[in-house]
Amino acid sequence: MNFAGSQLEAVLADVRRGMIPAHVYGDPQIFALERDRLFARSWVFLAHESEIPDPGDYVVRRVLADSFIVARDESGAVRVMFNMCLHRGMQVCRAEMGNASHFRCPYHAWTYRNDGSLTGLPFHAEAYGGEDGFPREGQSLLPAPAMGIHNGLIFISLDPGAPPLPEYLGDFAFYLDFYTRQSPAGVELRGPQRWRVKANWKIGAENFAGDSYHTPHTHASVVDIGLFREPKASKRKEGALYVAGPGVGTTYKLPPGGDFASQLRYVGYPDAMIPAMAASWSAGQRALIADSGFMVSAATLFPNLSLVHNWPQIDERGTVAPFISLRQWQPVSERETEVLSWFAVDAAAPEAFKRDSYKAYLMCFGSSGMFEQDDVENWVSITEMAAGSMARRLRLNSRMGLTSAGQPIKPPLATFAGPGVAYQGFGEFNQRHWLRQWSDHLEDPR
Ligand code: FES
Ligand SMILES: [Fe+2]
Repeated sequence: MNFAGSQLEAVLADVRRGMIPAHVYGDPQIFALERDRLFARSWVFLAHESEIPDPGDYVVRRVLADSFIVARDESGAVRVMFNMCLHRGMQVCRAEMGNASHFRCPYHAWTYRNDGSLTGLPFHAEAYGGEDGFPREGQSLLPAPAMGIHNGLIFISLDPGAPPLPEYLGDFAFYLDFYTRQSPAGVELRGPQRWRVKANWKIGAENFAGDSYHTPHTHASVVDIGLFREPKASKRKEGALYVAGPGVGTTYKLPPGGDFASQLRYVGYPDAMIPAMAASWSAGQRALIADSGFMVSAATLFPNLSLVHNWPQIDERGTVAPFISLRQWQPVSERETEVLSWFAVDAAAPEAFKRDSYKAYLMCFGSSGMFEQDDVENWVSITEMAAGSMARRLRLNSRMGLTSAGQPIKPPLATFAGPGVAYQGFGEFNQRHWLRQWSDHLEDPR
């Protein structure tokens, strides 16, 4: 019996009923399956177009061990190229970001244009017989097997047969707009800050997916120091958890009685930004805020991109400023994750707002953010516990919101302006949805 056989079936059956074998958060065999069956097939976020605005701009990003150059070529097109030299396999570009018309391999100096095409080989005539011996035509760094862009977000899939990105995003695109399209200008990203945590990558993805339950306790000190106006947990308890296509997320409930503009003002958006938001969003998107009073908070797009929107008080006068952060849980091993954390803001926003919003982000998230510090302590501990032998005997209870018969304690919200299914209050519907997708990938041997 190998692990990929009946043992895996048992693990996945437990996961699907919301009882998670604890070792999945620290198991090298599970991690190997995640590499081969999940990351080899999913759409994975790499970068945002605003990170490479000009021809020649590039960033270097990874999908697990595979390094990619994400570049804007001379024609302005976005290219994603496997960062391995066609000659002897050296990593061609070793810088994290920059601007270059060409990439020259450090080993023997083969040179590629920023569209990936091979242009220069030292001693081409003497070593290869020139163009007759080795024509450069058609030689190119390997392009990503599939690439797609949505609201400037650049995704790739290592599976050339992946469904088109719009089809994959499905209903989650509705929610993605709140974070990444507040005006026709779109968002601009700053960062990323990158750091490594000794935690399994799934824990952060699941936490942002819908763990409203941890906030009042784990982040109690953030509330105690008065970072938020609302009394402890109230805006969360009445908030919604939604499941929509490959994404899941949470919303806060705003005080009742507001209209679209006043709700946005309440969370700190200046009047100058509100008409563009109204024009950029559909009637349904506006209704989620206006009629229901729901404002998006944390979310996760399967597998490893999370988003967060919150609105702390940034000074003693009680100025409230909203911020958006994108974050990626980049697995290093089953016990270590590289976190990439970006600040995102509407590119057309007033400069004063951008400054306030950046301050709000830095207070909460990023390497020194208060939420980040609180969270990571938990995640490291879970990973340590999961790596021992007793964890193989324990199934973690992830059934919040369900009766023992597996029915929702409360029915889904009957009137929720967004697509998908939404529940009000606490529950682990979102984590289970994320884990179901995880299970579906791990079980597929293709
Ligand atoms: S390995 Fe890149 S030029 Fe030889
Ligand atoms: Fe948290």
